[in-house]
Amino acid sequence: MKHWTLDDIPWDRFDRAKVDSEMLKVVKAAAMVERNGGDYATYLCNVFHDDPEFQAAARAWAEEEVQHGLALARWATLADPEFDFEGGFRRFTEGFRLPLEASRSVRGSRAGELIARCIVEIGTSSYYGSLGEGTAEPVLKEICRNIAADELRHYKLFYSHLRRYRAQERPGFWTRARVIWGRVAELHGDDELPYAFYCANPGEFSSYDRRSSGRAYARRAYRYYQPRHIERAAAMMLKALGIRPNGRLGTILVRVAVGLLKGRSRLLARA
Ligand SMILES: [Fe+2]
Ligand SMILES: [Fe+2]
Repeated sequence: MKHWTLDDIPWDRFDRAKVDSEMLKVVKAAAMVERNGGDYATYLCNVFHDDPEFQAAARAWAEEEVQHGLALARWATLADPEFDFEGGFRRFTEGFRLPLEASRSVRGSRAGELIARCIVEIGTSSYYGSLGEGTAEPVLKEICRNIAADELRHYKLFYSHLRRYRAQERPGFWTRARVIWGRVAELHGDDELPYAFYCANPGEFSSYDRRSSGRAYARRAYRYYQPRHIERAAAMMLKALGIRPNGRLGTILVRVAVGLLKGRSRLLARA
């Protein structure tokens, strides 16, 4: 059961004067990635082919992700009536394919897959939290508030299944750390976000280049993060790794994460 629908959004309160045109560009890209949630469910159902309980949860989860995409796309179209969401989304899915036919997780194990899912949900929860706080536009604020709450529930959902699979598979500390590091690194190294940004903002680029499109995306996305968003996200990631975030090691690692992100957003802002 979804916790909200598009009809719960107060669309009539949309205030064009409060739209931040730079944030609009990242919202358009986020709409594409979220709308693609159905493909993720297909992949997850293949990986967890003999676990009907998880499969049902993954399908319900994907419906919420698709709704995130539809809500963001509708808002972006209000803000920019020229925005061709369907056309951009078609280009995105033609150019970016998930490993739908995989029968094993690309993370090496089911626990690894669930750790990676937890990381993504932590990231999206803090991302929409930061966008929601960063915008003055009331409708986008409300959409982000709803989405951030969903993403947090998604994290809890995947974490509950992770505990089950962790007990079965017993992945070692370094295996878990490698999955977390790999998934965080992917945010900078794979095509999903840069290509979504490119497809969503065709006027920005003459052709697709992962590096420049990725930087253009990150420069806009990072500026809304406040240290408290990073602290919270880093603490949740440590929990997924099995490290107490307020222990000695946890405190150091949270500080390192905040410092790294601050440094990177300064670099991007200067670039
Ligand atoms: Fe989402
Ligand atoms: Fe989510």
